[in-house]
Amino acid sequence: MTEVPRSQSLKHVDTLGWEGDVHGCLRLIDQTRLPSELIRIDCRDAETVWEAIKMLRVRGAPAIGIAAAYGVCVGVQNAVESDEAGFFARMEEVCDYLATSRPTAVNLFWALERMRNVALAERGRKSPRGIAEALLAEARQIHEEDRRMCREIGRHGAALLEDGQGVLTHCNAGGLATADYGTALAVFFAAAESGKTLHVYADETRPLLQGARLTAWELQQRGIDVTLICDSMAAQVMREGRVQTVVTGADRIAANGDTANKIGTYSVALLAAAHDIPFYVAAPTSTFDLAIATGHEIPIEERDPREITHGFGRQTAPEGIKVYNPAFDVTPARLITAIICEKGIIKPVDREQIAAVVGASPAGKHQPGERQEQRQHGGDK
Ligand code: MRU
Repeated sequence: MTEVPRSQSLKHVDTLGWEGDVHGCLRLIDQTRLPSELIRIDCRDAETVWEAIKMLRVRGAPAIGIAAAYGVCVGVQNAVESDEAGFFARMEEVCDYLATSRPTAVNLFWALERMRNVALAERGRKSPRGIAEALLAEARQIHEEDRRMCREIGRHGAALLEDGQGVLTHCNAGGLATADYGTALAVFFAAAESGKTLHVYADETRPLLQGARLTAWELQQRGIDVTLICDSMAAQVMREGRVQTVVTGADRIAANGDTANKIGTYSVALLAAAHDIPFYVAAPTSTFDLAIATGHEIPIEERDPREITHGFGRQTAPEGIKVYNPAFDVTPARLITAIICEKGIIKPVDREQIAAVVGASPAGKHQPGERQEQRQHGGDK
């Protein structure tokens, strides 16, 4: 990895991007170093991209998909001089490998499927070098589409918020989780750009603190009023009447609207229902998995126990303690007031409305089940 230190702060978050031509590399902000350091790393092989996704250097469903698409581009670089069979064998190997990095966000599989489809469409028509160029063009297209989808999500979502409201969000669904503008945070950014004043409460988001390290940082960078709270304070903050709306992102939305997002989102949705507060999910259509009927089928990532016992380098639990560390949970559709996507507002959240607004999934089928690491499944019991 090449480290490129940057000392300036950012208003516009340039989460990741491709540097150079077909022989270039993926450059991304190392989100594990924020908020104290803004450092970019260059990924020049598939292993570095896999590690960056696995370790959450790049994270958030849409950003993972974009990183994986560029990951295919770096992964096939050493096969452009091969014959066609050699090139395709390498491409399949890279796609299968990157698909093992994280299991929950469907954008990863959606993006890899798009990359595969583009290469297959060019097979027999272009040389391996020509196909590598087509793959890079497709990755850039996925990146650009995400940029546009986030702006549209912001536009649709901002209309749901009123001037002066208190709003709560969980984890980070901002520019850092997408091409550059976010999903849940896009709603806040667009509302602020249209002249509305918001008071955002950011859950810190145990155990990896995406809310404290990333959301609080992003909102502060953009001059939006933000107050950081521990996850366990959300109920009290709602009871005190400080929050009128909740908006979160999503990692995978089933055909019936059940939504996987960062662990703790389900609790926030239950709290919002108990306090009669609307709970919105903001996500692009690339986050819908219409191939699965309900949240029961969503694979839930289980992560290293040390993230809980030794978070950020300090031991905070006794040696040898048993730990359970699911990284996501599933909020049942019945708790979601509406889903905000780039095509508009989905309300009520049910199979019919989702089919009407989202229609056929953008890339057709997402991924064969056997490619996924399935440790445990979510869903309404
Ligand atoms: O584990 P992470 O940080 O990748 O989890 C991210 C989330 O849960 C986000 O809320 C989600 O991906 C939406 S990103 C626009």
